Amino acid sequence: MPYYRRVGQVPKKRHTTFRQPDGGLFHEEMMGAEGFSSDCSLLYHLHPPTTLTDVQSWEPEALALEPNAPARPRHFRPSDLEGDGLFGEDAVLGRRLVAGNDDVEIFWAAPTTTSPLYRNAMGDEVTFVVSGRARVETVFGVLEVERGDYVHIPTTTTHRWIPLEGDDPLRLLITAARGHITPPAKYLSKRGQFLEHAPYCERDLRVPATTFLADGGEVDVYVRHREGSAVLTFAHHPFDVVGWDGCLYPYAFSIHDFEPVVGAILQPPPTYQTFQGPNFVMCSFVPHMLEFHPEAIPVPYNHGNVDSDELMFYWNGNFSSRGKTSGIQQYSMSVHPTGWSHGPHPGAVEGALDLVESGVSFVDETAVMIDTFKPMRFGCAALDSDQPDYYRTWFQPVSGSAA
Ligand SMILES: [Fe+2]
Repeated sequence: MPYYRRVGQVPKKRHTTFRQPDGGLFHEEMMGAEGFSSDCSLLYHLHPPTTLTDVQSWEPEALALEPNAPARPRHFRPSDLEGDGLFGEDAVLGRRLVAGNDDVEIFWAAPTTTSPLYRNAMGDEVTFVVSGRARVETVFGVLEVERGDYVHIPTTTTHRWIPLEGDDPLRLLITAARGHITPPAKYLSKRGQFLEHAPYCERDLRVPATTFLADGGEVDVYVRHREGSAVLTFAHHPFDVVGWDGCLYPYAFSIHDFEPVVGAILQPPPTYQTFQGPNFVMCSFVPHMLEFHPEAIPVPYNHGNVDSDELMFYWNGNFSSRGKTSGIQQYSMSVHPTGWSHGPHPGAVEGALDLVESGVSFVDETAVMIDTFKPMRFGCAALDSDQPDYYRTWFQPVSGSAA
């Protein structure tokens, strides 16, 4: 994030002596993006953050991807696979791929136990909390998160996920970029402040309020790397930061704090953009008042997004554009690829107009969309839950003809 935060103890001047009560020095670390030419933070450790005692290779499981061949619309239900043994017990080693390409990987996880310490050295991660609650412990401090939160973890931030007790199990939709994920540039001033037309702003972001210390030596950290992922063993626990300041840090914000923009007629998908990453965007389609032109059609028109594969995760509500014949339910994911125009299912437009006629004035549905500019390929969490007839669900045979 481009705006400055300060938590805990930091010295008055950067890169100067900063002493512990016993007279020894705190150990300064700079985390900086884009060759120290972009956002950065300075962290002050009790111990040097450099003291490795062991290195082991790590091969993350099940990262294979298959192309969408022949290219066609798809419908996946990874949540149906929970309990089948596909997902591991924690949010790091137990995540399984839904989709991905050279720019981004999209995982589903259903963790029940604390993850190991983890750094993604390939890029930022934005995790959408599908259900349940969790505590995310990081080197910057702790984030308490719950259903509906986006959790942004900058690349190489040491952290771990701890599921918390609650009415619903913890489920996570993880978007892991090879590069940085940021608020869309169109929402920001030249100096990085959210502008008035932005659908969310600094006040909506939750940042660790205090530092978080943990004891321990010989601590393993799983490091996902572009090549040569590894388990690095450190002599001291990485959670030994007494203070930090800067513009690079993890944060969370709720999809309920994303304020929709409503017009006389249907607003286009970029209105709902929430993040941008390298060759992909993320959008939050949130509940909103109906469009107010007296003849407005309140569901999307047929459209060909000619440069993007569109993954839509149907999180909550009615999903009015999909209609009864689609098979889409809560926690379904559709992928609508380039080369094909998609739109409402049969009867969806008429059904929406009937609702307007009956006095309904609110669209109560929430979905998260990830559009990739390169073709999406699919992982085991998608392929094992594939709904193979989805591509035919727009087709309604004429009465009396063969199906
Ligand atoms: Fe679309």
